[in-house]
Amino acid sequence: MHCARVLALIVLLVGLVHSFSWDIIVGGHKQLQFYQNGTLTHTELIPSAHFIASVTYDAVHYRLLFADYNSPTISISSFDPSTRKIQLLVTRTSNGYYPRVVYDPVTQALYWKDGYSIYSSSLNPASSNKVDRNLLAKLDHYPRDVAVDSCGGYIYWVADEEIGRARLDGSEREVLITSTVYYRLSLTIDQQTEAMYWIEKTHSNDDHWSIESTNFNGKKRKTFYILRNARYAFSLAVSKDFIYWQNYEEEGIWQLPKNGTAIATKLHSMSSSDCTDCQRIAANFKIEEQIQGIKSCNALQGLFPNDSKSESTVSICQNYCFQGECSVSAEGRPTCSCKAGFSGERCDLVNACHDYCLHGGVCSLNEENKRVCQCTAGYDGERCDVFICNEYCLQGNCSVGADGIPKCSCTTGYSGVRCEENACHKYCLNDGVCSLNEEDEPACQCTAGYDGGRCEISSDQDNSCDAGNSGQGTISACHQFCLNNGVCSLNEASEPVCQCTADYEGERCDVPAFVVKWFLYAYRNVPPVALSEAVKSTRASTVV
Ligand SMILES: *[C@@H]1O[C@H](CO)[C@@H](O)[C@H](O)[C@H]1NC(C)=O
Ligand SMILES: *[C@@H]1O[C@H](CO)[C@@H](O)[C@H](O)[C@H]1NC(C)=O
Ligand SMILES: *[C@@H]1O[C@H](CO)[C@@H](O)[C@H](O)[C@H]1NC(C)=O
Ligand SMILES: *[C@@H]1O[C@H](CO)[C@@H](O)[C@H](O)[C@H]1NC(C)=O
Repeated sequence: MHCARVLALIVLLVGLVHSFSWDIIVGGHKQLQFYQNGTLTHTELIPSAHFIASVTYDAVHYRLLFADYNSPTISISSFDPSTRKIQLLVTRTSNGYYPRVVYDPVTQALYWKDGYSIYSSSLNPASSNKVDRNLLAKLDHYPRDVAVDSCGGYIYWVADEEIGRARLDGSEREVLITSTVYYRLSLTIDQQTEAMYWIEKTHSNDDHWSIESTNFNGKKRKTFYILRNARYAFSLAVSKDFIYWQNYEEEGIWQLPKNGTAIATKLHSMSSSDCTDCQRIAANFKIEEQIQGIKSCNALQGLFPNDSKSESTVSICQNYCFQGECSVSAEGRPTCSCKAGFSGERCDLVNACHDYCLHGGVCSLNEENKRVCQCTAGYDGERCDVFICNEYCLQGNCSVGADGIPKCSCTTGYSGVRCEENACHKYCLNDGVCSLNEEDEPACQCTAGYDGGRCEISSDQDNSCDAGNSGQGTISACHQFCLNNGVCSLNEASEPVCQCTADYEGERCDVPAFVVKWFLYAYRNVPPVALSEAVKSTRASTVV
């Protein structure tokens, strides 16, 4: 044997040791009980369940499927014995009857009866028919149970009045057995013996209950076993070697060798069940065992690769993951690695965060399960959908600095953090006329009587100042008033007014421009005029 394969086998065996072993599972109201050789090996409480009416085993994916009835709702869930995970598959309003669910690994679909109707729901990720409740057939008589023949591709039902079958799409419906009996319950299909079995009570006035069987065409009928002291035997299930059922009167699980060589033995005592239309036993009948020695069952054989060396892992993985890659875990179980945007055990859950935050933003769910984005530098908004440069620079080009703050490169003649200021705007004082020089800097042409780079000097005042006689007030008011190279002048009320350099702002040019820039950034959607007012008032209250 190949080394890797030996290793895989060892890993597989080690993995199996950790999970509890079982040959039948018995469903109860709110629990699943696992038995091996008549010994309870595990009880799984299902807190969400109300009344588990039906259990069945998916021998391809090693999971139990069970139908819970909580009037008026039917829900079908899967239970994985190795991970003990429960997954809700179907929830529907019922017709008011106990549901019965079966699974077909070939079509990968659930089939269930509810009242007089049989429905199907595909669990195949590749199936185009994802309808939750696909009506397959509405029957004339109340079916007490349904079963699937995966090899032949039929669904069968038993009613007191008939046994019938149809293709798994509901077509080719036919009645195979027409006799009406007092009770006809609990149908099970055995591929290995190519027979179906059911429980029958022919007349009302005796206690004659029996397990009946025919082949899949309703032929070769025989009474397989006469149930003595039986009353309401139900939940027929079949495994490689045994047939199991539940007996209301004798309160227990019974077991009979399938080869009919012995009498039935009581495997386990349990309190009586209140639901004879229920099917609460699932047997661990492996697919390999089901098709062992069968000449033609391409459907089930097709689940396994012809290359027996690769074991059954291919079939385990086949169509298991909805949106992802399947691999087999150390425990021999299918495991999905989901595509971006999907999560869940079978990658069937859409990831709420997928593609939510734009431009590289990181998405997470907050305590209220709402999506929240952490944006990369340069982006903002609920989904990082707003580029911070958008409409930021009023007259110029915008770029995002390393600090994540937008920076403007203003077009000629404009200045200010958002290029909101015309360089000439209020540049020349005393009615001086402003224009841009060759270096694109504002230059003033002063009116008569004024001088200075910004026409801030009155020729008269200038002289007076030099003389030091008159204009004393002007000098003292302006003296060291404007900081950081701001130019001082007096307004009409003889108060000092500063014209600051580009790096400073404020009444006395005392506020570095970058502080204002931060402010502008925070209020970047505020129009420039309102903004400068806001800056002034904020500055007055915060920066002194
Ligand atoms: C179950 O019982 C059979 C027959 O008595 C025995 O051979 C087998 O080892 C038992 N299995 C377990 C897991 O106890
Ligand atoms: C019938 O089945 C039982 C249980 O598997 C087995 O012990 C017995 O040997 C079988 N008998 C025959 C005749 O095959
Ligand atoms: C396996 O073999 C059967 C018959 O030998 C063939 O019909 C089938 O297509 C094969 N399956 C695969 C997966 O190769
Ligand atoms: C703005 O960008 C355009 C296109 O790249 C360029 O032609 C123009 O000179 C830029 N203007 C400034 C002020 O940087």
